[in-house]
Amino acid sequence: MNERNTSNSSTEMGRGDSRIAAAGAAAELSTDSLSRPAQKTAPHMLARLPYAENALEPAITARTIGFHYGKHHKGYVDNLNKLVAGTEYADLPLEKIITATAGRAERAAVFNNAAQAWNHTFYWKSMRPKGGGEPPAALKQKIEASFGGLDTCKKELANAAVSQFGSGWAWLVRDGDKLRVVKTANAEVPLTSGMKPLLVIDVWEHAYYLDYQNRRADYVNGVLDKLINWEFALQNAG
Ligand code: FE2
Repeated sequence: MNERNTSNSSTEMGRGDSRIAAAGAAAELSTDSLSRPAQKTAPHMLARLPYAENALEPAITARTIGFHYGKHHKGYVDNLNKLVAGTEYADLPLEKIITATAGRAERAAVFNNAAQAWNHTFYWKSMRPKGGGEPPAALKQKIEASFGGLDTCKKELANAAVSQFGSGWAWLVRDGDKLRVVKTANAEVPLTSGMKPLLVIDVWEHAYYLDYQNRRADYVNGVLDKLINWEFALQNAG
């Protein structure tokens, strides 16, 4: 659980540790992409699922969402509230807790639960019923400028999601004025490295195992083709 590699989809970012540590303390996070309640201090609330539990079927079943949202995501929020009670983090909003604890081994439990609470809220918004398809023109333009085409972007996202060893996340991010695909391990989140997340795919086994067992690639392709929320990515791209 302590592995900390923020990796490019094609090349390992060996400088990840120092980059995360350096950016972690200073990063002032933009929270346009998350709902206002994420700004609040403890007790942190489980953000509302933006659709019904069965709304992503058949790509992701209500059973998977029921466990993933109702047990796993809720568990991170509940754990976080217990961990920060009475500590220096009790009065900090979620994003500040993440940046304050990133890269600090002695605060790994707080970081892991705070980041997982944030990552999951972001993940639910990265999908929508009847998603996939063509991005809005403004996002498509940015994707073409950075990747050469939508297909290449989707392939990089799929490769990052499938090749992430063990638990983690595949992200479309804005890094300066370019869009990139990166993958992170465990609870790691690119915003501690100064990159702005646009959308994410959860590749922890709890995200797909009930529906797909070992077939992570089928889950990833289902998300990209049927569920990915390009409109949400565009909202975050500015
Ligand atoms: Fe998850």
